[in-house]
Amino acid sequence: MPFVYIMKRIYLGADHAGYNLKEKIKKYLLENGFVTDDLGTYSEKSVDYPEFGVKVAKEVVKDKRSLGIIVCGTGVGISIAANKVKGARAANLSDEKTAALVHEHNDANILAFGARVITFPKAKKLIEAFLKAKPNKVARHKRRVKQLNKL
Ligand code: RB5
Repeated sequence: MPFVYIMKRIYLGADHAGYNLKEKIKKYLLENGFVTDDLGTYSEKSVDYPEFGVKVAKEVVKDKRSLGIIVCGTGVGISIAANKVKGARAANLSDEKTAALVHEHNDANILAFGARVITFPKAKKLIEAFLKAKPNKVARHKRRVKQLNKL
């Protein structure tokens, strides 16, 4: 990773469709000095994505300095589940510009990926684009994130 970023535990979760991409992301994060906590699933055996989206979201909301990364086939189902947890701000990502903007404008605390939509090299680029950006402290963004957190 071409930058230093002090954080934060990264909670990982995936269903069976996201399992392989989640494993590659975990290896990449560990190689780059991040602390990860893998909340499953732990094989390609079929499971239901809501459980894993919610597990990660609950931990991220409790642990304010943490980040979540969740993976299913499209990134959609697992992010819908995560966003049911109060305080979770999960963003399903497929392009770098959005990856940076969800950090700057939405202070996203969970990144969702679709393993059937993006490749591992793309996921790395999206994670790096997110981490290089910082939440924008201007009043309007802070106000909107505060409104999200009340929902
Ligand atoms: C599982 O086949 C698939 O439906 C799931 O991974 C996800 O894409 C749902 O949104």
